Amino acid sequence: MNVLAGHTADATTVEEGLAIQEAQDRLYDNEMATETAMQNTLLTPRFYTTDFDELDAVDVGPVREDWDELIERMLSDPNKGHFKKNEDWDHVDWEGMDPQLKKEFIDFLISSCTAEFSGCVLYKEMKRRGANKDITQLFQLMARDEARHAGFINDALREAGLRVNLGFLTQKKKYTYFRPKFIYYATYLSEKIGYARYITIYRHLEANPEHRFHPIFKWFREWCNDEFNHGEAFALLMKTDPRLTRGVNLWWIKFFLTAVYATMYIRDHQRPAFHAALGVDPDWYAQEVFTKTSKLSEQIFPITLDIDHPRWHRTLDRLHHANVDIAKAREAGGVGGRLGRITASARAAFAFATLFTIPVRKHRVPENTRLEPVY
Ligand SMILES: [Fe+2]
Ligand SMILES: [Fe+2]
Repeated sequence: MNVLAGHTADATTVEEGLAIQEAQDRLYDNEMATETAMQNTLLTPRFYTTDFDELDAVDVGPVREDWDELIERMLSDPNKGHFKKNEDWDHVDWEGMDPQLKKEFIDFLISSCTAEFSGCVLYKEMKRRGANKDITQLFQLMARDEARHAGFINDALREAGLRVNLGFLTQKKKYTYFRPKFIYYATYLSEKIGYARYITIYRHLEANPEHRFHPIFKWFREWCNDEFNHGEAFALLMKTDPRLTRGVNLWWIKFFLTAVYATMYIRDHQRPAFHAALGVDPDWYAQEVFTKTSKLSEQIFPITLDIDHPRWHRTLDRLHHANVDIAKAREAGGVGGRLGRITASARAAFAFATLFTIPVRKHRVPENTRLEPVY
């Protein structure tokens, strides 16, 4: 295989996709993008590792029919070759772009690329370590998709003279250990919220094409369908063991729902120019994505957050402001900065705890887990 002639979009395995990325890493490098991707704050996408033996021991027997159908769909690979520039890719005027928009958009691309790659690394590692055919096959297919997604974002970044060096990130970024069940909750939610985010932007720009300031958004529909399938896989994995979605684990589910929603709210509110360019009110967008994600997650979680509760939005807003103050204090530095950080962090912790006290909504989980991407 001539890796330099290849494109990640055409790679049929994660190994092939990563070899192409690595060859490109050697050609281009940019410290700024990699540095941004290296940041390990609470909010930036993290890299995960888990107990691969425990995951390898999962028996998908109880969900066999749905499982085989999902794998079949992924094997048919409708998006092979999709994630690369073609004649639909319009010229991007990076030079002429408003500087604040450019900064926020690049930040969006880098953090999305890092998140895609974080999934790729975790899935690929599971595939590499496992012996269970069902599990390794699924993780190979998901890693294949994430390598393509990351590769495509890097294509977009390259036009701005940037690149996230994926090989370097794999080696140098800190890994957070999560037990498999926490990987299920966190990854299931991040795949489903990823679907909801991409499809909401896609539909909005379909109706308002004058706001499509970059061609990458045209690729979001197929993109979110991949994420949708990944979410389906984690729903099935959780369904193999009913204990994962009852009893004390409901508290964990509530915790992950709150953390994932709050993180999205804070991150998006840090990009006002980006949302203005899209013609999207970040509050409307957040609520829209929460509504879709909650509806989807009812397929497996017997609880959802009460996102219409009077304290919900008010407290998210407080959390966002506390977070802005943490960033300001960090920039200020010195004793004042340190003090500012402590008080703002306490406010953020209090706001998060307040979100957590809002009672959940309960409902019955349907017999059949399977969902279609209907949005
Ligand atoms: Fe992805
Ligand atoms: Fe995914």
